[in-house]
Amino acid sequence: MKSMKRVKQLNCLGIESTAHTFGASIVIDNGEICSDVREIYIPHRGRGIHPSEAAQHHNSKAQSVILKALKGAGMNVNDIDIIAFSCGPGLGPCLRVGATVARALATYLNKPLVPINHALAHIEIGILTTNVEDPLVVLVSGGHTAISAFGGNRWRIYGETEDITLGNLFDMFARATELATPGGPEVEKMAAKGCKLIDLPYTVKGNDVAYSGLLSAALREYQKGTPLEDLCFSLQEIAFSMMVEATERSLAHTEKKELLLTGGVAANKKFQLMLESISGLQNAEFHVVDAKYTGDSGVQIAWNGILAFQNGITVKIEDSIVKPRWRLDQVDISWRS
Ligand SMILES: Nc1ncnc2c1ncn2[C@@H]1O[C@H](COP(=O)(O)OP(=O)(O)O)[C@@H](O)[C@H]1O
Ligand SMILES: [Mg+2]
Repeated sequence: MKSMKRVKQLNCLGIESTAHTFGASIVIDNGEICSDVREIYIPHRGRGIHPSEAAQHHNSKAQSVILKALKGAGMNVNDIDIIAFSCGPGLGPCLRVGATVARALATYLNKPLVPINHALAHIEIGILTTNVEDPLVVLVSGGHTAISAFGGNRWRIYGETEDITLGNLFDMFARATELATPGGPEVEKMAAKGCKLIDLPYTVKGNDVAYSGLLSAALREYQKGTPLEDLCFSLQEIAFSMMVEATERSLAHTEKKELLLTGGVAANKKFQLMLESISGLQNAEFHVVDAKYTGDSGVQIAWNGILAFQNGITVKIEDSIVKPRWRLDQVDISWRS
């Protein structure tokens, strides 16, 4: 009888540590997500992320998060075939914690180390969980606000923020108005109670957006005593409309038939509805990343680690420096055509 050689499955440990979240996850090469453990650093009320405090948080949680991810997957460390880590973009001190842990494990276990771009990982987990093939992507989080489509081996940027991100807008507004952290979900809850549209600046330049003027104007209104509910309502309405305008134009130009929303802000129901409506107008199907994976996690890193490794991407320990400013459109991708 001919012996059938079973191809061994690949198990990837993904480590995320770009900003507020230290996450670890194990994903198999068939796309099965075996575990997802996260510890989130919450800054003191009224303050933003303090990079070295966040890094200390990650240091203190790294061991338990990784052990829980292994246990959750029912695996031990020798079952891991690949170690993937968030290599950038992100906060240097935070990135270095994840990278150090990943290097140590890869060295000790003698396994390949795979550097992952965090923005790309948000897109790939969106693609995995929605089965889209060739989408226009709206990537919105605290670190990113970009409209992107794939072409010529890279995700090309069709529009992005010229200053702060959509997530930053909500987080900074929430911080100054003493709402809880992170700001996005708080602004969303408050906005549901408001209905009056306050006149605030709407800034779209070409296909780019700018949010810092909107933030300053909203905070001036807050100082004048405008009700917070109406301000949150207006902030969402105006900030989202700007992205929606740029997205609709990008859909019309690229003629993509799928729109994928991903990243932390993708959790916002109002934004989902607005994008769904313009997708319909442009004959595109609207998709949102699985709600469990809007925010940062080791899952997106582990899945991207599988894709990258299968396409020959690994890094030597001595070359594995973190890249705090690594842009999405600088990453060459060989697994998509
Ligand atoms: N429901 C929501 N509405 C709007 N913004 C949200 C919502 N949920 C989370 N966010 C925002 O998403 C951002 C976090 O995104 P995430 O991808 O987890 O992190 P990072 O920006 O570090 O990559 C924060 O700015 C947060 O306020
Ligand atoms: Mg993110």
